[in-house]
Amino acid sequence: MNVNESAKIKSILQNMGYNVIEDVSEADAVFLNTCTVREGAATQIYGKLGELMAVKEERGTIIGITGCFAQEQGEELAKKFPVIDIVMGNQNIGKIPTAIEKIESGDFKHVIYTGDEDDLPPRLDAEFDSKKTASIPITYGCNNFCTYCIVPYVRGRERSVPMPQILDEVKVFVEKGYREIMLLGQNVNSYGNDLETGENFAVLLEEICKIDGEFLVRFVSPHPKDFGDDVIDVIARNEKVARCLHLPLQSGSSRILKLMNRKYTKEQYIELAEKIKSKIPGVALTADIIVGFPHETEEDFLDTLDVVDKIGFETSFMFMYSPRKGTAAAKMDGQLDQEVKKERLQRLIDLQNRKSKEASDSYKGKVERVLVEGPSRKNEEVLTGRTSTNKVVLFAGDKELEGTFVNVKINECKTWSLYGEIVD
Ligand code: 5AD
Ligand code: SF4
Repeated sequence: MNVNESAKIKSILQNMGYNVIEDVSEADAVFLNTCTVREGAATQIYGKLGELMAVKEERGTIIGITGCFAQEQGEELAKKFPVIDIVMGNQNIGKIPTAIEKIESGDFKHVIYTGDEDDLPPRLDAEFDSKKTASIPITYGCNNFCTYCIVPYVRGRERSVPMPQILDEVKVFVEKGYREIMLLGQNVNSYGNDLETGENFAVLLEEICKIDGEFLVRFVSPHPKDFGDDVIDVIARNEKVARCLHLPLQSGSSRILKLMNRKYTKEQYIELAEKIKSKIPGVALTADIIVGFPHETEEDFLDTLDVVDKIGFETSFMFMYSPRKGTAAAKMDGQLDQEVKKERLQRLIDLQNRKSKEASDSYKGKVERVLVEGPSRKNEEVLTGRTSTNKVVLFAGDKELEGTFVNVKINECKTWSLYGEIVD
């Protein structure tokens, strides 16, 4: 979602006549698009602000902070760091031109916009870094209130985008040549719950798959509690939906899942994952996992390792729990020591790495349909691309093939990438 919003911010700035450049020291304006979902983000932002102080002194650069961290902190942020000119929430980025104008007028010390939906920029107007992948938010906000999570507080309640609008956007992006459409939402399976027209995620996916053209649909993130058979069936019968499903686990312990307010048990999660694997052959599952949630015992943690071992995620995003101000879990007793969290995270990473290598090895000798992304960074003659399961593949080929789908026979498997050759 953050990347999608950055793409929109870029487009807004370009429409104002700015060129987007990489070198911060030469910039007339800098926007830091921030995240606040985990603690680490704040430290990074403070580090960057330190760097930007010198740039501002040198060139009078306008400094804007956008994104969830800006939304959460509001005016306090500008008070704490006078180097900041603009603080702007996710729902206000359409006001960037107004904010810049105000700062340039010299009449304002800083400009703060963190209100509810206000001047949203056109959704189609986004300057994506990738020429292959376009993303489309299908819902904004979240109603789930997992006890560790700050998202419902910074992004508000769930709002679904009307289906005809999403379908039109997919058509436009496919016609423009994008080959991957990434649907975004905090809980994509609850798409449509707030619409009176009776649409749901399964119907949306099916309708998207009917759109002409060669493209793949991906989506993040589904919530295991809402992952219905209807969605599994739509995926199973539509090759256009990528064979890669992100299924956030968070914990493998039913006791901790309850404290997290996740609304499923270890057994229900395993049952769902096994059902998905049996109905969608070749699917790769990935997960988000938190270690060190309050009250997590060694036994609870072993349950997490057990699920990782049983399901064999292709890859996982693994985090140490960090308390977020205002969330229920931050107020719980039973917070764990950093050392315990670190040690558990390392054990989890070690297991996941073994599972990722096993998953990689299973591609050996197979022929995979690969979307060609272009020449690899290290060698112009080697192309890089991704399978429907999102695995990186390297193979020899002409760069004219960029943006097309080719069949590649996999000869060698490393943990994070596969090596092969084009076949007919
Ligand atoms: N501490 C650690 N990880 C968190 N996540 C969300 N909130 C926290 C937190 N307080 C993780 C979850 C989520 C991912 C985006 O970030 O695993 O799925
Ligand atoms: Fe956060 Fe839970 Fe909503 Fe995901 S589903 S955004 S983890 S509250």
